[in-house]
Amino acid sequence: MIKHIAVIGSGTMGNGIAHVCAQYGNTVSLIDISEASLEKAIKTITGNFDRMVTKGIVTTADKDAAIQRITTYTKLSDGVKNADLIIEAASENESIKLGIFKELDSVCKADAILATNTSSISITKIASVTKRPDKVIGMHFMNPVPVMKLIEVIRGYKTSDEVTKIIFDLSGKLNKIPVEVNDYPGFIANRILMPMINEAIYSLYEGVAGVHEIDEVMKLGMAHPGTVAIGRFYRP
Ligand SMILES: NC(=O)c1ccc[n+]([C@@H]2O[C@H](COP(=O)([O-])OP(=O)(O)OC[C@H]3O[C@@H](n4cnc5c(N)ncnc54)[C@H](O)[C@@H]3O)[C@@H](O)[C@H]2O)c1
Repeated sequence: MIKHIAVIGSGTMGNGIAHVCAQYGNTVSLIDISEASLEKAIKTITGNFDRMVTKGIVTTADKDAAIQRITTYTKLSDGVKNADLIIEAASENESIKLGIFKELDSVCKADAILATNTSSISITKIASVTKRPDKVIGMHFMNPVPVMKLIEVIRGYKTSDEVTKIIFDLSGKLNKIPVEVNDYPGFIANRILMPMINEAIYSLYEGVAGVHEIDEVMKLGMAHPGTVAIGRFYRP
């Protein structure tokens, strides 16, 4: 039973993951090497909860209780030692992630599940630096985490059925929809999204259409919300 979740990295994704885990009743340790990033994360989480209160999604009491469930740490071993599940959302850098997982293996509870929010690094490779590759899994949340429903659940070569089931059950409790994917480069989300964004940029470069027009085609024609193809990335 998962009750205590440690989130490593308090940037864009880590603060959103901590928000959602705390919102649905879990004790959360939020860990970062940067004290400034932790402070910013708590401010962001508070601001996002305030917006949810304004919209009537949660009450002020829910918000206060959720924020109280989050404790911040700069020392990894202090933050993870009592956790049932660790969700790593540190910078997308293979050597950083391998270093974190090596350390996690020696400082976490023996039965703790180790998840990573990596967008592209092999789960099997990350699992291989631990002595518990059956308990290592990808939990690829989408940005912004409190809003987006999908969790791409990526099984490494040795991820067990039992661990996959626990992560599926937890995803439901976090009000998300898990989708199981195998461990191939880019998984599904980025394997398809990145070529699409590249094609949008090439379309602009080749003069097929302007930024606004490309986004309008994708919004109105493909039902992609917001500025999807280029508007988000293009800086003239
Ligand atoms: N941003 C997105 O849209 C998005 C979407 C899905 C998945 N991801 C993935 O989520 C992960 C985090 O991305 P992000 O956008 O939140 O990055 P970010 O740069 O906003 O935050 C990364 C945080 O990790 C911290 N960090 C670095 N090394 C650390 C360590 N050893 N221990 C603890 N904390 C450490 C940094 O201080 C920083 O606060 C990456 O693997 C990324 O690929 C990102």
